Amino acid sequence: MGGDSKNQMTVIGAGDMGHGIAEVGLLCGLDVSLYDIKQEFLDRGVGKIKESLTQMAAKGKIGEKDAQEMVRQRLHPSLDLAGAVGEAFWVIEAAPEILGLKKELFGKLDQLTRKEAILASNTSNMSITQLGAMTRKPDKVVGLHFFNPAVVMKLVEVIRGEKTSSETMQLGYDLCLKMGKVPVRVEKDRPGFIVNRVQAPRGVLLGAILDQGVAEPEEVDAKMKAIGMPMGPFELMDYVGIDVAYYSALYRAEALHPDYAPAKGVVEKVKAGRLGKKTGAGFYDWSKGRPQIDPAKATDKVDPLDFLLVTFNEATRAVEEGVATPADIDLAIENGSGSKVGPIKQARGLDPKFLTERLEALSRNFGKEIFRPTRTIREGLYRNWGSP
Ligand code: 3HC
Repeated sequence: MGGDSKNQMTVIGAGDMGHGIAEVGLLCGLDVSLYDIKQEFLDRGVGKIKESLTQMAAKGKIGEKDAQEMVRQRLHPSLDLAGAVGEAFWVIEAAPEILGLKKELFGKLDQLTRKEAILASNTSNMSITQLGAMTRKPDKVVGLHFFNPAVVMKLVEVIRGEKTSSETMQLGYDLCLKMGKVPVRVEKDRPGFIVNRVQAPRGVLLGAILDQGVAEPEEVDAKMKAIGMPMGPFELMDYVGIDVAYYSALYRAEALHPDYAPAKGVVEKVKAGRLGKKTGAGFYDWSKGRPQIDPAKATDKVDPLDFLLVTFNEATRAVEEGVATPADIDLAIENGSGSKVGPIKQARGLDPKFLTERLEALSRNFGKEIFRPTRTIREGLYRNWGSP
């Protein structure tokens, strides 16, 4: 390795997101170092990359030889942080969602990287501005938020911290294009950015349904699959990691509103170490692969429209705060979640009075202030957002 080319990328953390991002880097021709703190984490991450590349080769998406060459010649697993990042132009941090840990890492990366290196975080929720403040070059710190599985999901949120330069935003955007992704600019560094933020109230509604015993996870998942979601929401939580949902909820409860605190049913799973797919069990048993959800269990006790309404409501709040444009919010959801059509396209034909009453009722019934309709909904301002 060496030289000052933009082809050197280092990913910090070989977990679910880290190994996926490293793989995406390999697939677009970059030289990739993959750092983690334990050999077993590296071995697991490299194993997953090989597995995924083999799956792609078997489907003829890449050549078998290319897949082998990528791993042998361009993937460099490492336990030495200084060595792994010293030559990199791109450093993408994908460590666990613990703010203190990420801050400490950014402080170290500032010391260990080249002056021109771009320091990116794959954080799901946390402040890019705060991470940038741990360095002497916050203009070169940016959010690059990938979605799980990174190799399949098209969206990357490119997040501007308060001091991120426009040049860094553009470099991040262009890197995503080179990776064959759909980048979406997030112009305001607010917790959860677009997709996780806009979908967070849906998570609160799910948690309330779980905690109040309205319906069982499988009943809800069967219902959501019946209306065309590729995965039910509880299965998805298992797939992404219940710990990820838990830490994100804690962060949002602190940074946005106490209503976001993790549901009791989620806390119990985390305490029991049942974190989903990666531990073999969560809401479902994953020991024999993806759970088989029985379509006959679809329940009428939950109405999928309520999930759309709380999502739309939060989308309008994100627009009010200047996080992103309505069109970019839909583009993000369409490429970073199981929804093929964004919430704004789906809901903006609905009447403001209907929306207001139904959201007020959800707020009352579940005791959640965050479901209360925004001004944009109450006053029907979303109807001026352009044609569907
Ligand atoms: N490597 C390579 N290819 C893979 C793969 C992997 N790891 N995982 C899936 N694929 C490919 C499959 O080979 C298949 O390819 P094909 O279409 O050519 O046959 C294709 O992806 C679809 O996979 P499957 O047929 O196995 O199953 P699905 O149709 O259900 O797709 C899925 C799997 C893409 C994961 C789909 O279920 C989905 O879109 N789920 C929703 C995922 C989602 O919402 N992710 C966002 C999570 S939130 C997040 O990440 C934010 C973070 O901050 C927490």
